[in-house]
Amino acid sequence: MNLLYISISGNTRSFLKRLQSFAEEQKRVNTNAVTFTLKEIDDNCLFESELEPFIAFVPTYLEGGNGVDNGTQEILTETLREYIEFENNASRCLGVVGSGNKNFNRQYCLTAKQYAQQFDVPMLEDFELRGTSADIERIYAILSELRDNS
Ligand SMILES: Cc1cc2nc3c(=O)[nH]c(=O)nc-3n(C[C@H](O)[C@H](O)[C@H](O)COP(=O)(O)O)c2cc1C
Repeated sequence: MNLLYISISGNTRSFLKRLQSFAEEQKRVNTNAVTFTLKEIDDNCLFESELEPFIAFVPTYLEGGNGVDNGTQEILTETLREYIEFENNASRCLGVVGSGNKNFNRQYCLTAKQYAQQFDVPMLEDFELRGTSADIERIYAILSELRDNS
């Protein structure tokens, strides 16, 4: 399963590397276990047409507004949005997983919610900062189920 992400300060990258290691451990006891291929999107990457389905992992960076009754401006992560908008990539996106910080209250994980709306895909899950072991197990289970049902 392909997991696309952007990570400005490294939290999402750390989470995904740990998720990938967790999946590799599961694979040792269950040959049918899901495996993950990670692809980091950044400002220097070449845009490509995604040929396989993917899940997008989206941290939240917003400036201004409260995300509810006045506007917020996405900053730093727009390259991921543009990558998903590129050619037919949005049609291959199965869903988004958001990350953020609950100190931002109602803006928590708002960018992932906005992507879900824009690309008409489910927001599958969320986690805070680098995520806990429980987050890894929970998100692993959800992605495994998605793989089994698709
Ligand atoms: C300038 C700035 C703005 C942020 N805005 C939000 C926000 O609106 N909502 C939220 O849930 N988290 C917000 N965060 C927290 C980040 O989403 C969080 O630290 C995340 O783990 C960063 O992921 P990364 O290290 O992979 O880039 C913000 C962080 C910074 C530095």
